[in-house]
Amino acid sequence: MIGFGPVGQALYRALNLEELLPGFRVCKVLVRDQNKLRTVQDLDGCPVAVPSSLIANSVEEIFADNDFSIVVDVSNMEEPSVICRALSSGRPVVSANKRLLASHGREFIRAAEDGGTFFLNEAAALGKVPVFKFISEFCARLRILRFETICNGTTNFILTQIANAGLSFEDALREAQSNKYAEADASSDIDGLDALHKAKLLTATAFGLDILAAETDEYIYCDGIRDIAEATCTFAAHCGRVVKLVATSEMTDWGVAIRIMPTLLPKHSFLGSLEGVENGIVVHDQLGPASEFAGPGAGPDATAAAFLSDLATARECMENATVPRAFARLTSADTNRLLPKETGTVRPVFQSYSPLHQVGVLAAKADVVCSHGISVEQIYNSTRGMTDLTPDVIIGERTTMGQALSAARELSNLRCVTGAVKLLDVAGDEPIDLDVLI
Ligand SMILES: NC(=O)c1ccc[n+]([C@@H]2O[C@H](COP(=O)([O-])OP(=O)(O)OC[C@H]3O[C@@H](n4cnc5c(N)ncnc54)[C@H](OP(=O)(O)O)[C@@H]3O)[C@@H](O)[C@H]2O)c1
Repeated sequence: MIGFGPVGQALYRALNLEELLPGFRVCKVLVRDQNKLRTVQDLDGCPVAVPSSLIANSVEEIFADNDFSIVVDVSNMEEPSVICRALSSGRPVVSANKRLLASHGREFIRAAEDGGTFFLNEAAALGKVPVFKFISEFCARLRILRFETICNGTTNFILTQIANAGLSFEDALREAQSNKYAEADASSDIDGLDALHKAKLLTATAFGLDILAAETDEYIYCDGIRDIAEATCTFAAHCGRVVKLVATSEMTDWGVAIRIMPTLLPKHSFLGSLEGVENGIVVHDQLGPASEFAGPGAGPDATAAAFLSDLATARECMENATVPRAFARLTSADTNRLLPKETGTVRPVFQSYSPLHQVGVLAAKADVVCSHGISVEQIYNSTRGMTDLTPDVIIGERTTMGQALSAARELSNLRCVTGAVKLLDVAGDEPIDLDVLI
């Protein structure tokens, strides 16, 4: 086992203390800081020390011992060499380390093929929902056209607290951190990078696309929830919607478009109704109604449960000398057919701030939006003329992502606009039912 944070501890407890998967036990633990005392809670909730003989001092010590058959990566390491070495030596790897998988997946596939083995990554996204197994089984029969997912529990918790408890973004983030849903540096969650890594892994499995390398990120539009105004969430509520961070991946005749962006979803839709750290996915195929799955998206026990499932699959495949279907999906990848981020359509929401008492601000902003061929559907600011702390929100009719991005860029260059312009999407084409307040 590489890493012994909360997830590593939960898995160690499940395997070595609770013996939830008979036949498996952790025989070595590699960590960064060998001097830290490693403990886990026993079945009565009391801390017990992990035997020091299990703590490895170096990578060499791990590989000098031949008495292990699977490597479990529960670390946050960024360096791929240990995983490549394990795979080249013929040992399957089971990993939750989505950033490493999404950036070095291609190297891992090569190393696994060299070693005649495989890797599994069910624990890398959607926690307890067995989404990679589902998608790969699904693809054996049906063709996936598109999926939308809420795959980051931290941002969903923050947005839920803003919408339901009226908290400010900062207070909601602090609450997420005190509940251990967010790290001290939560930027990877808040800026959408965590969702980006998961969307890449899900897309590679759903569409057999070879996109598991860092350089493919430049094709993917990725924006998180930083700078979303509470007023924008209030506006969403006025029109029966909620703001969620949604990752979408779509197969077109020309290739696959992936994007991660804050989206206004109908409050009572499947994804719109997911609250707190819950995660979910909607999968559309060529045969009728979509399939929907949801479950606890994060947390040590939910993630450990996904590891147990992967370990059982790995054992079965080793016994039968086969590779898991999820891994076979990754190795059947086509050449790169990822579309540029300007591809696809969006029903854009432009959120921007301006100083008080300036004449013609809304007209100037609407003018810019129209000049990019986008028809203005709604303009909203409930406190215009009273404070410059609430943004103007302009909704445009459906347009291309490229046009929406260039309109947002031009808006941010207007003299009357202060700070960044935030772009959101509105899911669906139902009319926005709202009393316009300007
Ligand atoms: N927490 C969740 O709910 C969740 C859900 C899904 C996936 N994940 C993923 O699961 C993994 C573990 O999560 P966590 O919350 O337990 O992480 P964490 O608290 O950040 O712990 C990371 C562990 O990795 C060890 N480590 C880092 N670099 C290493 C290296 N080069 N060699 C050996 N050990 C190294 C650290 O060692 P030290 O203890 O010595 O610092 C630490 O024990 C991460 O990749 C995370 O993204 C987490």
